[in-house]
This record gives sequence, structure tokens and C-alpha cells, in this order.
Amino acid sequence: MTLIIPATMTARVPGPDSGENRVLPMPDLTYTPEVAAATAHLYDRVKHVVPPVEWPFHAPYVAAINRLKKERDAVILAHNYQTPEIYNCVADVVGDSLQLAKLAARSTARIIVQGGVHFMAETSKLLNPDKMVLIPDLKAGCSLASSITGADIRRLREAYPGVPVVAYVNTSAEVKAEVDICCTSANAVQVVESLGVDRVLFVPDQYLAKYVASKTKVQIISWHGACEVHERFTGEELRRYREADPSIRIIAHPECPPDVIAEADFTGSTAGMIDYATAQKGGKVLLVTECSMADNVAASARDVEFVRPCNLCPHMKRITLPKILDSLLTLQHRVEIPEELAARARRSVERMINLQN
Ligand code: 13P
Ligand code: SF4
Repeated sequence: MTLIIPATMTARVPGPDSGENRVLPMPDLTYTPEVAAATAHLYDRVKHVVPPVEWPFHAPYVAAINRLKKERDAVILAHNYQTPEIYNCVADVVGDSLQLAKLAARSTARIIVQGGVHFMAETSKLLNPDKMVLIPDLKAGCSLASSITGADIRRLREAYPGVPVVAYVNTSAEVKAEVDICCTSANAVQVVESLGVDRVLFVPDQYLAKYVASKTKVQIISWHGACEVHERFTGEELRRYREADPSIRIIAHPECPPDVIAEADFTGSTAGMIDYATAQKGGKVLLVTECSMADNVAASARDVEFVRPCNLCPHMKRITLPKILDSLLTLQHRVEIPEELAARARRSVERMINLQN
């Protein structure tokens, strides 16, 4: 797949200044008894998914990142799909796209490091124009975000004059700047209905669009984008799991195709899925989503048995502890969005956030 990194995201090498933005030297990453002791409480959170033999590789990074966060006045925002050692050991806040956007808006730290993909980092920058927002890997994209451009939205508006455009947050700032309002998987139906119209254009996820259409009377005109992770699940594989154990609760993300949603007992955002799964005490749950999320939920819901027919998101997996450390040392890669474009994109995101409050 070709990844389109929006022109609005550029990496700038910090100047040779000796101030708070100076590049810091690489710390010693030896697994010493001191590092083992300082990180033991964090290993306890992930020991069910990180074998003891691997922890000596993670622990020095965890210790260094947690120390540097304080030194740099930085917070790490991690999406639910980040790996367990990031999610549980260095993240300050975790959540779905909507929760991360809201938390980003409230952040008081000088620097935000995005544990997630680039559209999430752009959303953080839109809501924090005066802060430094860093993404540890510029190639952490998203098949949905790269499926549509600002020019596509302008052509859609010409083809459907007067029809409002709702964009899933999984889009570039350039696209957000052209639409009327954003939504996430947690609030898509509410956003569509808030417009008080009979028809909306809903981009770019064709499956989320179908899911929304099944929940509202508003006519939904959709784009052809899809999540490369969720579109690979099939209703057939879920039926086989249910045949093997009829008591199983199937939980799916609305980016899945309709035959998958039809088999699910619950459909919702990643945060909604976590809430539903953790409520199934003593039960067996099948999580139809990205692999790391099951590991992360299992950490807090020890009394639930998880079945994980998971697919990996290669973009989320570009974010690693070594890259987060590098980001904090070098203050790269900084997300920059030209202000005129940012002002229009921010309006679409804030309109969605204000709807929730
Ligand atoms: P959530 O908003 O549900 O976390 O989804 C984001 C995402 O990229 C799922 O693939
Ligand atoms: Fe994009 Fe799908 Fe990865 Fe989410 S899981 S970031 S929608 S490619």
C-alpha cells in the first residue's frame, strides 16, 4: 500500500539552540538492578503478555522515557491499539480517538507525544496549536486517511450541492478543513443526526457509513474507503467461533463489514468495546479488532476469557519504545499545520467536541 503523508506534516530538525529544545544525548540503556527495581511495578501490569525474557529489553526504554517526560514537560497520548508496553508502561492517557481528542484539548504539558497514527497527531496539533506535537514515526498512516483528499471533498460538494459532509476523524487535516463536521466511531450517529437534514455525505469509511445508515433515517452517501485491518474479518469466521461455543459474546468495531456486524452482540468504538468486554465477568469474549487491544483489555479484565481473532495494524505498530525515546531526545517529528488550513480543520473537530458537551 502506498502511504500518503499529508504535505501538512513536516519534520523539522530543532536548531542548534542550547535551550529547552536542545537535542539530548542517548541515555545508557543497560538493564541494571536499579532499572529492574524502578520498573518492577510496571512489569506487573504487562506480565501476562510480555514474557520475562523480553522485559530486560523494554525496561531501560521505559525507565528512560518516564524520566525524560518529566524533564521535557511532555505527555504521551496512547491509542487503545498501542502495544502493551507503551499502553501500560509509558502512556499518560489512553483511549479511543474521541477520548484522545478531548484529552489533547485539555493537556497542560508543553509537549505531546502521540502514541498512535498521524491523523491522531494532527488532531492533537489542531487542538493545541501552541504546543509541540511529536509523532515518533512519520510513516504511521492509516488506510482510511489515505483514501481521500481535500480535492475529493471539493468534487463531492460539486456533485451534491448543499449536502453537508461528515468526515470520520481518520482523515488528514487537509480533508477536515473541507468538511462541515467530524465524527468518531463513538459518536457518528449522533453527529449525523445533529445536522437536522435528510441526506449527508459520510467519508471515508464505507463500512462505518453502512453501520450509521442502519441506525438512522438520514440518507447516507458514502465514500469507498476501508480500514485494511477490520475489512479482513468475515461473518463466516465468527459463526464458526459461535458454533464452537454458543455462550461467547462477540464484540466488533463498526469499521468491520456488515456481515461481521450482523454476527456481533455489541458494536462500538474501541473504548465502548473495552467497557462492554470488562462487564462480561466470568464470561468468554471474542474481540473483533486490532491485536494489541485484546492484550490491553485483558490486563484490566483478568476475570474475562478473551478469544482474539486479531489482525495487526501495521501503522500503529510503527510506534515503538525506541522511537518514542528518540522523539523525546531529538524532538522529532514535529507536526506543523499551516494556520489558515488549521483554522478550518479545527472548526470541524471542535464542532464535534462541542456537540458532546
Ligand atoms: P476508535 O475511535 O474506535 O478508537 O477507532 C480508531 C481506529 O483507528 C480504529 O481502527
Ligand atoms: Fe487506520 Fe484501520 Fe489502522 Fe485504525 S486500524 S489506524 S482505521 S488502518
